[in-house]
Amino acid sequence: MAADKPKFRSRDAYGRADRDGFIHRSWMKSEGLPDDVFDGRPVIGICNTWSELTPCNAHLRELADHVKRGVWEAGGLPLEFPVMSLGETQMRPTAMLFRNLLAMEVEESLRANPIDGVVLLGGCDKTTPGQLMGAASVDLPTIVVSSGPMLNGKYRGCDIGSGTSVWKFSEAVRAGEMQLKDFMEAESGLSRSPGTCMTMGTASTFACLVEAMGLSLPYNGTIPAVDARRRVLAHLSGRAIVTAVKDDLRLSKILTRDAIENAIRTIAVIGGSTNVVLHLLAIAGRLGLPLELTDFDRLSSAIPLLVDLQPSGRHLMEDFHYAGGLPAALKQIADKLHLDAPTVSGQTLGEIVAQAECYNDTVIRSLDNPARTQSGIWVLYGNLCPGGAIMKPSAAGEALYRHRGRAVVFETIEDYKARMDDPDLDVDKDSILVLKGCGPKGYPGMPEVGNLPLPKKVLAQGVKDMVRISDARMSGTAFGTVILHVTPESEAGGPLAIVRTGDEIVLDGQERRLTLLLSDADIAARLAEWRRVRPVQRYKRGYYQLYVEHVLQADKGCDLDFLVGSSGSTVVRESH
Ligand code: FES
Ligand code: MG
Repeated sequence: MAADKPKFRSRDAYGRADRDGFIHRSWMKSEGLPDDVFDGRPVIGICNTWSELTPCNAHLRELADHVKRGVWEAGGLPLEFPVMSLGETQMRPTAMLFRNLLAMEVEESLRANPIDGVVLLGGCDKTTPGQLMGAASVDLPTIVVSSGPMLNGKYRGCDIGSGTSVWKFSEAVRAGEMQLKDFMEAESGLSRSPGTCMTMGTASTFACLVEAMGLSLPYNGTIPAVDARRRVLAHLSGRAIVTAVKDDLRLSKILTRDAIENAIRTIAVIGGSTNVVLHLLAIAGRLGLPLELTDFDRLSSAIPLLVDLQPSGRHLMEDFHYAGGLPAALKQIADKLHLDAPTVSGQTLGEIVAQAECYNDTVIRSLDNPARTQSGIWVLYGNLCPGGAIMKPSAAGEALYRHRGRAVVFETIEDYKARMDDPDLDVDKDSILVLKGCGPKGYPGMPEVGNLPLPKKVLAQGVKDMVRISDARMSGTAFGTVILHVTPESEAGGPLAIVRTGDEIVLDGQERRLTLLLSDADIAARLAEWRRVRPVQRYKRGYYQLYVEHVLQADKGCDLDFLVGSSGSTVVRESH
């Protein structure tokens, strides 16, 4: 075994002529690996969230093979391993409940195994954030290869978008504007290839942020899942991770405060999902980087929406890629980015952006012709949300940016679903729908129910938007004047818990205020007599209990309190 090679972490297992080295190597040889692959070359873990229960990631076994080609070619040893997969559309009560569990599994798998660098294969909403949180707490050289978006949805000659069209069509059915059988027909045309939601939902947003943060090769965010160029990207990522290991390019050298600031500005340009606020806060917490909820508003809200994609705009991810992809969009705001930020490609972000070209300015708009002037993330404060709340102005109705209305309150989402079509529901278009019990502890897991369907009675009047307030999240594919992530959540005894039907609430988006028109004394008195609708003690064992006892509130990213920070990659004790 050559002494002149740099000593990688894997040498502690594979580089020893003793009993422990025998054990580590011998069992691996059962996979058909020859002697000389243990010669000191970089060992690359391919951390795969492939699963048939996560349709957005169902092609990742095949993509992993292309990563392996690149690793072998560059002189590394690729070893693929599975981790928990989180299928956004299949898991209940919400995939978000399990993001931190995935993060724990990734962290411990990376640290415990003799690997020198890792390629994270993920895509569906919670998979990549969970993987990155875990990877950040170990800090090996890390590259992300995303699933890529599925092909544009098609229905009767028109493009339809993941999630966004589902929300639109289901409201049209409830309003009597669309037949149920036509709605059902759209089901097969919407999701017609592997890959993630092809609107600018959470998965596409996060894949673009990964690219903006330099954690992937260029165009990782936009190349369609089934496009041969995604297999090329996987192949090249296999080569790149070997180089990254040789250069000791650890995750923390790429994922810096500057990179996160670039990501936050990217949210505005692309009209990204509100969910990434939680994920970036949690990732920053793992790395010990300072990041506050208010940073999202400060850094993003002066940047207009340029990428005209659903749910804020019109087009879909295929269109974005063919129009030039993320680098072409970032080129428009280059003067607001940290262009010297390094990327795993070896180029700086500035070098990548400088080479970009826009091929379709109806999809990637110019600064003097934006899709919307208001974009990014608004962070609201007030006596209803002392720890903050957020809204996405590009997906909201401008007419409701400033609104005063009477609260119509629902203690649970089931309560709302049971009453939303009731003709006797005391609601009109100016009412503010208030939903409780959907925060991280309350649900538990903070589901994507904040974009409440409108009450049937209001829909029948042709109304398309109302102010909605909750401690829930909403799908990145959703739209409306929806105030989310109210902190503290109702289950934790936040003021949201004591709002009653008939109370008046004022939203002032431009001033970033959300106010319950009650005196401090009245709020305090109601809180003093407030009792939980359902006791938290329902969860007496297992992961649910761990989660409910330890989850942080939304303004801290909903990580588990004991997972914040990093433990590095060192393991000092042997297994036998
Ligand atoms: Fe998986 Fe949208 S459901 S990315
Ligand atoms: Mg989602």
